[in-house]
Amino acid sequence: MLGPMFVCICNALRQDTLEALAEEGMSFDEIQNITGCAGNCGSCREHAESLVASVRTRHLTARHIPVLSVA
Ligand code: FES
Repeated sequence: MLGPMFVCICNALRQDTLEALAEEGMSFDEIQNITGCAGNCGSCREHAESLVASVRTRHLTARHIPVLSVA
């Protein structure tokens, strides 16, 4: 079994942590401000930004799918 997937090694930030923050509606900049993600070596920035963007897109899309009632 695989262990947790780390996105930002410098700040020991796991993928599930970034996903949870993005699902709460936080932008990458907001996540960076509270976690320090991509604030050191910066090698994680592209992947972290992409991860946050994809979660936010998925989350926003799911919230806007109309629910049809069946009579
Ligand atoms: S791996 Fe994220 S700042 Fe270095």
